[in-house]
Amino acid sequence: MTTKILKNNHVLTIRTPNRNDAVVMLDYLQIVGGETDHLTFGKEGHPFTIQEEEVFLDSLANSTTMIMLIGLIDNLIVGSVSLAGTNRQRLRHSMELGVSVRKDFWNQGIASFLILESIQEAKKLGYIEQITLKVSTNNHQAIRLYEKLGFYITGTFPKQMKLKDTYIDTYFMILPLQ
Ligand SMILES: CC(C)(COP(=O)(O)OP(=O)(O)OC[C@H]1O[C@@H](n2cnc3c(N)ncnc32)[C@H](O)[C@@H]1OP(=O)(O)O)[C@@H](O)C(=O)NCCC(=O)NCCS
Repeated sequence: MTTKILKNNHVLTIRTPNRNDAVVMLDYLQIVGGETDHLTFGKEGHPFTIQEEEVFLDSLANSTTMIMLIGLIDNLIVGSVSLAGTNRQRLRHSMELGVSVRKDFWNQGIASFLILESIQEAKKLGYIEQITLKVSTNNHQAIRLYEKLGFYITGTFPKQMKLKDTYIDTYFMILPLQ
């Protein structure tokens, strides 16, 4: 667990979620899913039961393929970051990042702190060489944030997202760690 002081002097606590966070985590995902078109899910959130979420959160403690951190202000989950990898020998040097912050808390530095903290955790694994991500080409705020943190665009995935009848391209971005 670590704490950071935000631009507005609020204290952000960052920690790995555990099974006791299952209900609030599922609520959080529904809230952020409903606040943006830039995530891979909408207001329905994640299709997990509370029990499935508990099992997933339990698995994080010893996982070498999934890093997840939540950011809390006064015990409210305000942001979340994940790094997903694989144990497959030829692929395990990369992890893919996903991040979200509740809209009321945007632009206070929360995503920046969460991403930087997750990268520190990834480095502790000892073999992660790059962080990758996909971001909608019209998500200028996120692209700026990623570029600020050192990610660069390396390609485009045409029509990766489909919102009803509208296709959205995504950029593929990479942050080398070496
Ligand atoms: C993208 C997101 C995670 C950023 O979270 P955040 O906590 O507001 O991010 P931070 O406060 O750490 O950084 C904000 C950065 O965004 C950029 N930014 C903010 N407003 C911007 C704007 N209007 N235009 C362009 N860039 C902007 C800036 O680089 C800013 O950093 P700076 O203030 O140091 O210059 C958040 O907006 C969010 O959850 N969006 C919806 C979900 C999403 O898009 N997730 C990413 C999917 S790939």
